[in-house]
Amino acid sequence: MGEQGNLPSAKLTAPLGPCTSTYSNSLVFVRIGPFFLIPTHTNTYSVTPMLDNHPIEHVNPSETKSSQQPHLRKPTKVSSVHEPQREYLMFESLPSWWRATSPHASTLDIRDALETIDRPFYLVDTGNGPEAHTSGELRIGCDKPGEEWLPLLASVRPLPISNLGSRSFLKRHGLRFPYVMGAMANGITSEAMVEAAGKNGMIGFFGSGGCSFTRIVEAIDRLTEAAKADPFPFGFNFLHHHGAPEAEMKLCQLYLDRGIRCVSAAAFLTMTAALVRYRVSGINLGPDGHVVIPNKVIAKLSREELAEKFMSPPPADILKKLHAEGLITANEMALAARIPMADDITAEADSGGHTDNRPALALLPAIQAVRERLMEAHGYPEKIGVGLAGGISAPVSAAAAFAMGADYILTGTINQACIEAGTSDTVKNLLSQARQADVTMAPAADMFEMGGKVQVLKRGTMFAMRAAKLYSVYQNAKRLEEIPEADRKFVEQKILGKSMDEVWQNTQQFFEDRDPTQIKKAETDPRHKMALIFRSYLGQASLWAIQGLPERAGDYQIWCGPAIGAFNAWTKDTHLAQPSGRDVTTVAFNILIGASVEARSRILASQFPSLAGIRFLPKTRAELSQCSREID
Ligand SMILES: Cc1cc2nc3c(=O)[nH]c(=O)nc-3n(C[C@H](O)[C@H](O)[C@H](O)COP(=O)(O)O)c2cc1C
Repeated sequence: MGEQGNLPSAKLTAPLGPCTSTYSNSLVFVRIGPFFLIPTHTNTYSVTPMLDNHPIEHVNPSETKSSQQPHLRKPTKVSSVHEPQREYLMFESLPSWWRATSPHASTLDIRDALETIDRPFYLVDTGNGPEAHTSGELRIGCDKPGEEWLPLLASVRPLPISNLGSRSFLKRHGLRFPYVMGAMANGITSEAMVEAAGKNGMIGFFGSGGCSFTRIVEAIDRLTEAAKADPFPFGFNFLHHHGAPEAEMKLCQLYLDRGIRCVSAAAFLTMTAALVRYRVSGINLGPDGHVVIPNKVIAKLSREELAEKFMSPPPADILKKLHAEGLITANEMALAARIPMADDITAEADSGGHTDNRPALALLPAIQAVRERLMEAHGYPEKIGVGLAGGISAPVSAAAAFAMGADYILTGTINQACIEAGTSDTVKNLLSQARQADVTMAPAADMFEMGGKVQVLKRGTMFAMRAAKLYSVYQNAKRLEEIPEADRKFVEQKILGKSMDEVWQNTQQFFEDRDPTQIKKAETDPRHKMALIFRSYLGQASLWAIQGLPERAGDYQIWCGPAIGAFNAWTKDTHLAQPSGRDVTTVAFNILIGASVEARSRILASQFPSLAGIRFLPKTRAELSQCSREID
């Protein structure tokens, strides 16, 4: 887990000789035996498989003088330990010993010790059963060194949450923790949520999708103001505008004008002029000869072909066009060939909202493979990050993501049922009661004509059924006049709640300042007019949910993934069960600290199987502070 950046807090020395050799990683992993990674005098790392019970001394650095260096001496064969009365297997099948280094060392509850994730965990045999400690001294691979030494049954290293993902991801975005709060349209990922993420070492993306231009400007103003006194990282959503390149360029211009330095790019099918312009604006050559990229792009996707495009330099034809239009300089155009379109890629598996319903277990390795290939092909100086989204719902799913090598995790659905989410209490309550199977796919407003779908909540609303009816009517008619009478009645009375003519009047007003090209197109394309009328229902259905309009409760469109079921199951009967008890930071720290505990629990179980199954349960913020010093 994590990168090498943060070195182990314990030191290994080989007191009995040059029994250590440096192996290539690939060689080590196919050998059987304990595995140690130790710092050498030259500050490189040597990997040491213990093949012949060669003795190794494991010294806690707090007990080691800083001048003391790992040293190598001649190897000697050691006799095995004969302790027939012991009923436990010794650590890693090597004779291993522990002793207290403080006279005040007291026994800790096993769970408490494992949950203290910044400290090592030692399980020792006192003769009266296993005892847990978070400090002490170890000797591995030797006869019992003295009376005060007790057999070591298991040992687990500290796993601070800053070590869970990738260091380069944290550094690039100025974060402390590898956790992203994904954009949720219409400001559901609100300023309050983004601020909470940023002020607590994470990053959030304001949900600008579906918002008016004025609302996006307002959010920029608020977040910029909030970050003035005590700066924190934050970003905005850069959604692809299907069939509306002008609107997309307007958004790009706004972000450039207002100095938005990080965007979450989503819903792209290919590269567009607006996104390329955002990416390459301001790039310059740094003193070390590397290209400096002021505008960070984290792209969200679920297909390898698209990942390839985002991991490649911007397309030359788009660059040329932008240059010809005076939107980028010749220098920016030339340097662009050396950078990827995105700094990081979020592989999005089965999620709330737009989703291809891909399984995370298959998607992440596929996107990681594209990354390895394109990193090699282009030789970028900075590694492109690959994070995972879709279904992150409980510590165990986050632990799985990091174990698979995710550089960071991104959540959406679980944040929508939190205090900071920009939606109604009615929606939050519905979400807090949902189970895994209470979600379904429904036609998407922005990809309606193409048959695009979004994942929504099924329980407590008729939206999915009604939206599906609209899509079927649309498929079977080329213009409003072709809709059979019975369908027209049903649509007007049971779904829209007014005549199609009335809806069209409102739709025209809606598009007048946002995107007048849509109205123009509808004047000459009757099917487009029909699509706009139906899309207006889909669009409003999510606003009715956000406003909590009681008379439209049956029409609520609540984007939501199966993550909600797993989260509700994990928090059942705890302080996190009710939305009023869920703040995004406590939820995020539960997920991250829990991921560390779950990972440590697996390591413990692999050494001492009778302690398998220690699971992390929801904690309050105060309890979380006891587990990790990093979060305060
Ligand atoms: C209510 C809701 C609205 C969303 N809106 C957007 C959006 O406007 N733009 C976007 O990039 N992703 C959007 N998403 C996706 C999230 O940013 C995130 O990628 C996804 O929720 C992660 O999967 P999960 O739902 O399983 O946590 C939305 C998700 C939800 C639940």
